Amino acid sequence: MVEDIPKLIFVGIKFSLNVFLATLFAATFLFARFPALKEGETCVNDKSCDSGLQCGACTGNVTVPTRCIRIRPHNPVEKVRGLPFNRYSWLMTHNSFARMGHKSDTGAVLLAPMNQQDSITVQLENGVRGLMLDMYDFEDDIWLCHSFHGRCFNYTAFQPAINVLKEVEAFLEANPTEIITMIIEDYVTTQSGLTKIFKASGLGKFWFPVSRMPNNGSNWPTVDSMIEDNQRLVVFTTKSSKEASEGIAYVWRYVVENQYGSDGMQNGSCPNRAESAAMNTRSRSLVLLNHFPDTPDLTEACKYNSVPLITMMNTCHDAAGKRWPNFVAVDFYKRSDGDGPPAALDFANGQLVCGCNNIDSCRPKMTFGDCDPLEGSPAPAPTIEASTSTTTASTAAGRGFKKGFANSDGQRLRFGWLMGTGLIIFSFSISRCFTM
Ligand SMILES: *[C@@H]1O[C@H](CO)[C@@H](O)[C@H](O)[C@H]1NC(C)=O
Ligand SMILES: *[C@@H]1O[C@H](CO)[C@@H](O)[C@H](O)[C@H]1NC(C)=O
Ligand SMILES: *[C@@H]1O[C@H](CO)[C@@H](O)[C@H](O)[C@H]1NC(C)=O
Ligand SMILES: *[C@@H]1O[C@H](CO)[C@@H](O)[C@H](O)[C@H]1NC(C)=O
Repeated sequence: MVEDIPKLIFVGIKFSLNVFLATLFAATFLFARFPALKEGETCVNDKSCDSGLQCGACTGNVTVPTRCIRIRPHNPVEKVRGLPFNRYSWLMTHNSFARMGHKSDTGAVLLAPMNQQDSITVQLENGVRGLMLDMYDFEDDIWLCHSFHGRCFNYTAFQPAINVLKEVEAFLEANPTEIITMIIEDYVTTQSGLTKIFKASGLGKFWFPVSRMPNNGSNWPTVDSMIEDNQRLVVFTTKSSKEASEGIAYVWRYVVENQYGSDGMQNGSCPNRAESAAMNTRSRSLVLLNHFPDTPDLTEACKYNSVPLITMMNTCHDAAGKRWPNFVAVDFYKRSDGDGPPAALDFANGQLVCGCNNIDSCRPKMTFGDCDPLEGSPAPAPTIEASTSTTTASTAAGRGFKKGFANSDGQRLRFGWLMGTGLIIFSFSISRCFTM
């Protein structure tokens, strides 16, 4: 018995050594970072997908695998600079402030529709560059609110508007080449009410002045000049008088937009909303596409943010005198079956910036329409340089949207835990060979 003790110790040491080596092996492989999953690949959670992607499926149908879906459009200004502001397209959120799960700052339970899933800060981080904000006089202040018979109540009031303006200020401060557009659905009657909160939020210094906005259909200043001059906040109001009184641009003097809500989602037609000039009015250099129903619906958004969005974008392109939208406004911007808002924006930016089907194909100084043949070449290219053109870039378009989305045949199931388990067993066997 006594002589067995050293043997036991020896066996014990050997066993510990095995475990140690096995762990070392497994750890090496496990933490040697698995390549993150790409767009369209089957996933288990958001973390397994590449950055800018989230793991999801449209239906909530468990037999349909969840895939990595893109939530962030490519930044067109990073691809090609030097073009007028109206030669780019931006993702805009409808009722940007109406976030699910938000509690009213009044303490009341909110009885208002919710249109988005994230805070303004997160939206901006995810590439949203247009915000639609409903502002009301409320509680001796200005609040973001939904109305009930034109008034703001505790149960429809989200929060004081300045909170959100401060989030925008922080983002512009931290991101010196980004430009943000805001459309205020304006119910504020307090004298200089908006001016006061914009000043108090610190956003005044980023203000893009009305005097620089063309109201005759000519091109906007270039994004470069907006960035250089630090005039990176474009604000529009729905109250015409405020242009003269407070220097806030009256939106329909500069923008045409289609009917909002369910009436605007009728297949095959793209009427302008009542307050807007006709879609094809050339004296307005900016085009806004609204695409959201009367009642926001998180589940349905996945569908209508997908192919129907692209279809409507094409319809409105034709209605707008062959102009692609500069703003694409949606509910639940992250929801789609893959070909969602980011794909729509990348397409619109491709067309606007360089006459191609995807902004990824655009390069600085390239000839307009001189696209990668693989993406399906567009119509004869007009001989204008993307970087110098002053023409509205929409002529090489109209070919509709091509599905460029990696689909499920390339699906590779790559579960970290599966690999990990395999590796532990494998490493354990190997380490036993080494020590025995
Ligand atoms: C779930 O998806 C599968 C495969 O597409 C389909 O056959 C089935 O009908 C769907 N079920 C529901 C409830 O939608
Ligand atoms: C509304 O909320 C405010 C606090 O913001 C509170 O003082 C007021 O009593 C509330 N009014 C009603 C009718 O609940
Ligand atoms: C449009 O207005 C801008 C100033 O906003 C001016 O420079 C330009 O000449 C005008 N263009 C036409 C065609 O009237
Ligand atoms: C929309 O209209 C087009 C032709 O106008 C048709 O091909 C398509 O199926 C329609 N889509 C829906 C969802 O009705």
